[in-house]
Amino acid sequence: MTLPTINSLSQLVAVTLELGALEYPEISKGERLLAKRAAPVPKAWAQEFRAAIQDGEDPLGGAFSDLRKPVERRSLGATYTPKAIVSAMTQWVAAQKPERVVDPGAGSGRFIIAAGRAIPKARLVAAELDPMAALMLRAHLQIAGLAGRSTLFVGDYCVLRLPPITGRTAFLGNPPYVRHHLITPEHKEWYAQSAAKWGYKASRLAGLHVHFLVATAQKSAAGDIGAFITAAEWLDVNYGELPRKLMLERLGLSSLHVIEPNAKPFDDADTTAVITCFEVGQDPACVKVRRVDSIERIGTLDLGKNVSRKRLEQSSRWSTLTRPSREKPRGYVELGELCQVHRGQVTGANQVWIAGAHSGGLPLCVLFPSITRARELFAAGEMIECGDGLRNVIDIPPDLELIPRRWRPAVEKFLTRARVMGADKGYIATHRKAWWSVGLRDPAPIIASYMARRAPAFVRNIAGVRHINIAHGIYPREPMLPSTLDALVRYLRSAVSVHDGRVYAGGLTKFEPKEMERLLVPEPSTL
Ligand SMILES: C[S@@+](CC[C@H](N)C(=O)[O-])C[C@H]1O[C@@H](n2cnc3c(N)ncnc32)[C@H](O)[C@@H]1O
Repeated sequence: MTLPTINSLSQLVAVTLELGALEYPEISKGERLLAKRAAPVPKAWAQEFRAAIQDGEDPLGGAFSDLRKPVERRSLGATYTPKAIVSAMTQWVAAQKPERVVDPGAGSGRFIIAAGRAIPKARLVAAELDPMAALMLRAHLQIAGLAGRSTLFVGDYCVLRLPPITGRTAFLGNPPYVRHHLITPEHKEWYAQSAAKWGYKASRLAGLHVHFLVATAQKSAAGDIGAFITAAEWLDVNYGELPRKLMLERLGLSSLHVIEPNAKPFDDADTTAVITCFEVGQDPACVKVRRVDSIERIGTLDLGKNVSRKRLEQSSRWSTLTRPSREKPRGYVELGELCQVHRGQVTGANQVWIAGAHSGGLPLCVLFPSITRARELFAAGEMIECGDGLRNVIDIPPDLELIPRRWRPAVEKFLTRARVMGADKGYIATHRKAWWSVGLRDPAPIIASYMARRAPAFVRNIAGVRHINIAHGIYPREPMLPSTLDALVRYLRSAVSVHDGRVYAGGLTKFEPKEMERLLVPEPSTL
């Protein structure tokens, strides 16, 4: 069915009102304000949206995701979950027959509505901070016929209080992925204090999804269950120590399902996601783990190979446990245990941002000798000792005031030319902090090519040159001696072959950053 196109958020508000959003009790101040700004829409629209909702679609959430751009949704982590994932998680939860379902960060209501439909008598509790989403949620619940047994809390999930019940509560949803620098100091303080009460050390780098796990552990009791989908980062990084412990010690982790980025778990975010299922108060000897390479093949959430809880306790990188085990010779570790691998920055328009005749007159402070072609790495040999002969990438700070006053006219002149070349348009430019600021990564001590008809070229970067997205940077997790870095490069150059990568039609071999992190290398002490 083709629905009418909603052209603005004010029209979207109007549709939610037509669908009865305000008939739901306890409308928040934010929602009332939005309701006042509703733009008129044809009466017939409501009928069409109603029919789509009754058919099991989420046309309101779909319109919202189109109207509010990903950058605008970032501060609230508003990325809505595709149907196949919602349905697999809801089925798992429904099979445990909860008396109540709580959806933390309910958005337009995809999980809570699915749960309400799948579990006929369950009480439904949805928490949502964004008044726009809350209006969609109300309309959605109303039309799905679930308003009578649901409660909507418009506010921060972390302070939501749940009344006690006798049966089991299920926590189900997609907690917002908001990076730490967008979280208020007060929220970080709440997180640190909550964690300290259980004797856990909280990192200030944890994202909001991790705060939600802590809040869930606070609200849950033995017998409760949960299924969450989150970004998978916490499985491996330092700030993930707390959620990993929390999952094992308080939430009763029962299974982990890592969804590969190629499976595109979310339409508008390139990320690896993980579904965790937990049973509070259980202390299982084994946890089921697996990787899912296609959303269509997600299957039931009881699948996976058993990994002992002890192994999870001892491991600081859980994502590797979901891969088929391969023989690891004694004394070898995965490169990823020592280093992070990052693809270089995308410029969005190499013809503009790689210096040339068009950028004459720019000062050295915005010019960075960089690896911009894989062949430069092939030609470099074991190390790059100086940046001469490499092309410069133009990287201008977002705040032009940071450029010394005497150079500003030259930079302004270049920016005018760049605009004429269309550099301020296009997806990458319009999604940067400032369209003119490429934001190169720091120099990587080792740079590697990753796509060719040959093994990657690993090169020691003594000169401190930068790289763009045709190369990967290899960054030690902990400081590493120059001699160890040299030895690591020598090892990688001699040991890695085309067969370690992913071969594409036509014979090209590609190593994604995570695949490169999986290469086996000798422990640093034996390098
Ligand atoms: C990842 S989205 C998930 C939406 C929906 N559950 C889904 O899966 O389609 C996270 C939601 O959490 C909401 N949110 C962000 N911070 C919140 C907070 N502190 N308390 C409650 N909800 C919050 C966002 O507005 C967003 O709608």
